[in-house]
Amino acid sequence: MAGAILITGASRGIGHALSIAFAKAGWTVFASSRKPQAPLLWNVAREFPNLRPLVLDVLDDSSVGEAAAAVAKETDSLDVLVNNAAVFPGEGDERLEDLDLAWFGEAVETNVTGVARVTRAALPLLRKGNRPRIVNISSGAGSISDKEDFSYYPYSVSKAALNMLTRAMAAEFRTDGITVTALSPGWVQTEMGGPNAPLTAEQSARSLYSTIDRLTPEDSGRFLNRDGRGGDYAW
Ligand SMILES: NC(=O)c1ccc[n+]([C@@H]2O[C@H](COP(=O)([O-])OP(=O)(O)OC[C@H]3O[C@@H](n4cnc5c(N)ncnc54)[C@H](OP(=O)(O)O)[C@@H]3O)[C@@H](O)[C@H]2O)c1
Repeated sequence: MAGAILITGASRGIGHALSIAFAKAGWTVFASSRKPQAPLLWNVAREFPNLRPLVLDVLDDSSVGEAAAAVAKETDSLDVLVNNAAVFPGEGDERLEDLDLAWFGEAVETNVTGVARVTRAALPLLRKGNRPRIVNISSGAGSISDKEDFSYYPYSVSKAALNMLTRAMAAEFRTDGITVTALSPGWVQTEMGGPNAPLTAEQSARSLYSTIDRLTPEDSGRFLNRDGRGGDYAW
């Protein structure tokens, strides 16, 4: 059943494709971008009147507060929040001694603290939602037990922390009936994933859409791949 969804990082890549997938299915989509100029997003809003673009920078308290207020003006409740916005500092193959240590802070600020900030702001509307779900877009790079190399230090650390945040929020919000799940989108052709990835953003978004649509409270605190299967990514 269609409902209302807020998606961060919808200016391009997976967040953009996911916004279109939900809009096509008739959802009211609050598709957010940190920049007011996000041509891809504003163009698609002309095609789908149920897709409402808005500005939301996950690093900025007042931007997040203003976005939440703008959403609350248009709807009494939110059924889904997708925390998709993320950064990937560096090239990914740097050795420890070659890393810019500031990258750890950058990755955690956006990929973890940003998720906490947006989730806090969205909670009042989520609490009134139908089968409310918080979906944190994680990554296989965040799996501690799968880690066999030294790639993506700051990004991997931030996604492992995001997985922990997911578990903690799942425990806290269980009594509110809010499902909190980490989903891995697969390796996807975006600016972050690069051109050699096997999946297009549209392919990833299609399976993410189906999985998000059918998430139940039993999925709370789980780390699933885009098809909704557990086990591919061990914590
Ligand atoms: N692509 C892959 O292979 C892959 C694999 C595993 C997991 N993921 C995850 O999937 C999600 C989407 O990744 P993607 O591949 O679509 O990445 P992408 O193409 O690099 O897009 C990242 C998005 O995040 C936004 N963003 C960054 N900082 C932000 C901030 N402070 N506030 C609001 N938005 C911000 C960007 O906005 P701007 O346009 O303004 O920069 C952009 O819309 C991320 O969580 C990523 O970690 C991707």
